Amino acid sequence: MNQPATPQSASPYGTLPPASNPALRKPVSLPRLLEMHARGEKITMLTAYDATFAAVADAAGIDCILVGDSLGMVCQGLSSTVGVSLETMRYHVECVTRGVRRVQGTAWIIGDLPFGTYHESKEQALRNAAVLMQAGAHMVKLEGGGWTADTVRFLVERGIPVCAHLGLTPQTVHALGGYRVQGKTVESAAIMKRHAHALQEAGAALLVLEMVPAALSSELTAELPHCPTIGIGAGKGTAGQVLVLHDMLGLNLGKMPKFVRNFMADLPGVQGQHGIKEAMQAYVAAVKNGSFPDNSQHAW
Ligand code: KIV
Repeated sequence: MNQPATPQSASPYGTLPPASNPALRKPVSLPRLLEMHARGEKITMLTAYDATFAAVADAAGIDCILVGDSLGMVCQGLSSTVGVSLETMRYHVECVTRGVRRVQGTAWIIGDLPFGTYHESKEQALRNAAVLMQAGAHMVKLEGGGWTADTVRFLVERGIPVCAHLGLTPQTVHALGGYRVQGKTVESAAIMKRHAHALQEAGAALLVLEMVPAALSSELTAELPHCPTIGIGAGKGTAGQVLVLHDMLGLNLGKMPKFVRNFMADLPGVQGQHGIKEAMQAYVAAVKNGSFPDNSQHAW
């Protein structure tokens, strides 16, 4: 039976949503994500950076919350993710974790390792991944191709689940020459496939594919049974989807990326926290039922 909706605290500065009934909850775990993928259930992921949004996302039924270094752009006003520090990531992972724990939530929390914190050596990556894990992350994410495979293996062997990230990797935007679709040529698609297989082989448990042609990400998804793919601008054929919170709420102040759908704009006349939770629920439903993304609008 559902518990009555009682606020968790009487603070005048905002109240987190009530905890859901423990009997109805099933925490998201690594085996559960793999089992969802094996059953063909799409995995939902959304970014969050603070306790309240994390708690609302959890209450909306989001499977995975990514504390992304996109916070550099949406929270700190930076022009790219390159300037985000490990201390900033640790702080936001802690905030998100507190929000999810306070509502006894279920979401799987992923902390992004920022630029320069895993590039030097496997030991450096372990030291910095430990900071995010101790702040409450269940998994760390790092960007890059085959050169990261040894690091991924090193972390996984030491009990740190890893999400890899291929395609448009924002930390290397300057080397890539801008936010462009990756893997469009036969050669670059073959290289991406090689890297994706190396990352699965190294033990990566999830793989974000960003701005990758839909056909290529579908092929990769079929070829990587042990490493579910999570797309952002990668079409509907991936094992799951991720969006940046502010984008899907229509709060992007610049040019909205083609792959985004504004889920707030779709709601009939609702506002405030309930509107945000409903927008998140609409996102969960659309990803689970396959209606988002629509390859004719949100993909290449
Ligand atoms: O930092 C982030 O939010 C990300 C997503 C865009 C996947 O890496």
